[in-house]
Amino acid sequence: MKNMIYIQSGGPTSVINSSLYGAIQEAKLHSSQIDHIYGSLYGVEGLIEDNIIDLGLEDEEQIELLKQTAGAILGTTRRKLPRNVHDPVYQKIIDNIEKHNIKYIFINGGNDSMDTCHKLSVLSQEMGLDLRVIGVPKTIDNDLAVTDHSLGFPSAAKFVINSVNSTAIDAGCYRSGKVYVVEIMGRNAGWLTASTDLLPDDTRPDLIYIPERPFDPNLFLEEVKEVYERKGYAIVAVSEGIEFSRKSMGNVRFDSFGHAQLGGIADELCEYVEDELNLPTRAVEFSLTQRAFPPLISKVDQDEAIYIGRMAVRSALEGETGKMIVIKRISDEPYVIEYRLEDVGNIANHESIIPESMMLDHTRMSESFRRYLRPLIRGEIEIKYKDGLALHASLKKIKVK
Ligand code: F6P
Repeated sequence: MKNMIYIQSGGPTSVINSSLYGAIQEAKLHSSQIDHIYGSLYGVEGLIEDNIIDLGLEDEEQIELLKQTAGAILGTTRRKLPRNVHDPVYQKIIDNIEKHNIKYIFINGGNDSMDTCHKLSVLSQEMGLDLRVIGVPKTIDNDLAVTDHSLGFPSAAKFVINSVNSTAIDAGCYRSGKVYVVEIMGRNAGWLTASTDLLPDDTRPDLIYIPERPFDPNLFLEEVKEVYERKGYAIVAVSEGIEFSRKSMGNVRFDSFGHAQLGGIADELCEYVEDELNLPTRAVEFSLTQRAFPPLISKVDQDEAIYIGRMAVRSALEGETGKMIVIKRISDEPYVIEYRLEDVGNIANHESIIPESMMLDHTRMSESFRRYLRPLIRGEIEIKYKDGLALHASLKKIKVK
């Protein structure tokens, strides 16, 4: 009998562990085909370095808690695999696949991680290995190509929308307030920042800046000044990926896919507003919390994450390989979707950004964007607490020899 291995990769989301939960539960139903359910620690690095755990030895109670556990429980990586399948790193992967009798490989990640998925499926073909490699989509950036949306984005959007709502209510309490610049994640795609446009008139950010539209610093000052003079305060939502001359660019770090470590744009814009407009400001940065806050998980997101984890296992058992599961939207209201399989080569390294049709102008989204987003953030999950603290899973992580 053969074994499966599950890999988490790239930036975590609030539901990445829900997909793992789904995959584990499905695999247990097929114990006549899958002997052991393994987890690779720190993404593909576990498979390279033989750092593999047996998830079948974990307590059921802890597996249940995966659904409300932030972060990537197996550990994650942004490591890029080499292009050349004859690179020594692939021999290490093959050795460990053979050593642990692995046939089914699941890679749960974003567009860079689908590059890893694609490379492993190419390796399998070129080396004649008997492998089934399936991609499980996730990224709060919502920039995976082909799929309607990426798992994790709806929950991050729900967090950001509700947090900006509360921020705006608080900010409006003073007779003479400040310019609040809220920094939201998303590298080249502004989906998460744009999600704040779903708020009602009284708490919606006055201005929303996303990377899809060029950022004009002078126009930004004019727009902020106009709002402040009219309302006595201003709420500005800004994507961390917008292009603004960044002082920090000198010593910025890059990952192996060439992506800069972002963060700090709200501070810089606040300083700019203080210098140029002499207005009081406050930078608001949700940072990691926006992708790591189980109490605000969207039920729709979690249900889809679990379903896709399960479907990945079923697809591999049916003989599929080199594919990622994608979501196809059938209708917005009622919200109806279909799940399909797509060649991972068509997804890896591509980016989906907000289309023009979903933007009203350079600071507002259109009704079609709101129609798209509305159903995704619906529904709440029940969270288990102890003494006021939300519980999270703690795994034994027993290594496979
Ligand atoms: O995975 C996407 C993402 O969440 C981006 O939105 C963000 O820029 C990046 O990860 C930051 O991740 P980290 O700080 O963990 O490298």
